[in-house]
Order: sequence, then structure tokens, then C-alpha cells
Amino acid sequence: MSNFLLWLVGFVFVALPSTRFYRLKTLLLAACGVKVAKSARIVSSVKIVGTGELSIGDDTFIGHYVSIFCSPPGISIGSYVDIAPNVVIVNGTHQVDMDGLHTAGKGVCNRIIIEDGVWIGASATILTGVKIGKKSIIAAGAVVNSDVPEYSISAGVPAKTIKTWNPVTKMWLKSNG
Ligand SMILES: CC(C)(COP(=O)(O)OP(=O)(O)OC[C@H]1O[C@@H](n2cnc3c(N)ncnc32)[C@H](O)[C@@H]1OP(=O)(O)O)[C@@H](O)C(=O)NCCC(=O)NCCS
Repeated sequence: MSNFLLWLVGFVFVALPSTRFYRLKTLLLAACGVKVAKSARIVSSVKIVGTGELSIGDDTFIGHYVSIFCSPPGISIGSYVDIAPNVVIVNGTHQVDMDGLHTAGKGVCNRIIIEDGVWIGASATILTGVKIGKKSIIAAGAVVNSDVPEYSISAGVPAKTIKTWNPVTKMWLKSNG
């Protein structure tokens, strides 16, 4: 992914209507090196920064003011994923350095994987190295710093599983605690 081309394309994005011209937007992102499916719907205010490998699957929707900070190795967003406004996905962090001048020490980046059918609620933050299992829900405002099981709902800071879907009974089971 080219950070410079993403920056240039950003000027075109802001000139386009928010929730139209989706095909044009995927073509522009593909030209920047994003592996994006033709049917993905990216809202104009989405901000993508970085040089990592970013993939976005079929019929995935990325909503208003979502920020994706994608350093190598990258971020994988599956198909049929819905990402609500103001979500932040950032796969980089720092080692804590209590000896140097900067407390944010050596940079560390790990792949984030968001599997098919995930719904991420408004203003959630997805941190480095996590895998969000398919058809799971991340509640609004959650901070995800560890893996999320498939077919579950996670909420809070840090995000914890609050419910799990039982495919046999077709009912939600509340988690203890
Ligand atoms: C998670 C969500 C889908 C609700 O799921 P639900 O199965 O209906 O959950 P419930 O309302 O039954 O709540 C279950 C528990 O989780 C808590 N909870 C629900 N949403 C929460 C949130 N965002 N953060 C923290 N806790 C939350 C409830 O307070 C409740 O706690 P309790 O059992 O102690 O009373 C919903 O709250 C949410 O976050 N939706 C996202 C909305 C959004 O982002 N909209 C933008 C457009 S897509």
C-alpha cells in the first residue's frame, strides 16, 4: 500500500458524496495498493494511513470517520463486515520504555484479522494483533485488546465477551461475570 497515493486519493474522496460512487472509491483504493473487493462500500470520510497490506472483502461497509492505521504486516477485513462511525483500527503500538526519554519505545506491529460477518459498533477501537471471529459483534465504545470468539458479543474497556450465540437453540447465552 502506498501512503503517498493514499494521501493524494484522500483529496478526491473528500470531493465525492459520502455514500455514493462506491465503485470509483474501490478503484482508487486499489490503485493505492489496497486489496479491496469491487462490492465493498467505503464512505468518503474513511481515513486510511500506512504502508501495510490492507484487504477488504465483498460487500463490506466501512462507515463515517472510520480510521484505519495499517503498518506492515497489515490488516485483513473479511466479507460482509459492517464498521460503524468513528471506529479506530490500529495495528501498531510501542514497547514501554521507562529508561529512555520517550516512554513509547520501539515500534511493534502485528496483523489484525477481522473475519466475515463481524459488526463493529460506533467508536470501538481495535488494537494490535487481535483476531475478531466471524459473525461476532463488538459493542459501541469497546476497546478490543485480545481475540474475540466467533458468534459472540464483546463489550467494554477492555472488551469482554458478554454473550455467545448458540446455533442449536438459536438463542444468546449470557457470559458469567
Ligand atoms: C452490543 C449491542 C448490539 C447490544 O446487544 P444486545 O444483545 O441487545 O445487548 P443488551 O442490550 O441485551 O445488553 C446486554 C448487556 O450488555 C451491556 N451493553 C450493551 N451495549 C453495551 C456497550 N456498548 N458497552 C458496554 N456494555 C454494553 C448492557 O448494559 C447489558 O448489561 P447488563 O446485562 O449488565 O444489563 C449494542 O448495545 C451496541 O453496542 N450496538 C452498536 C450500535 C452502533 O454502533 N450503532 C451505530 C450504527 S451501526
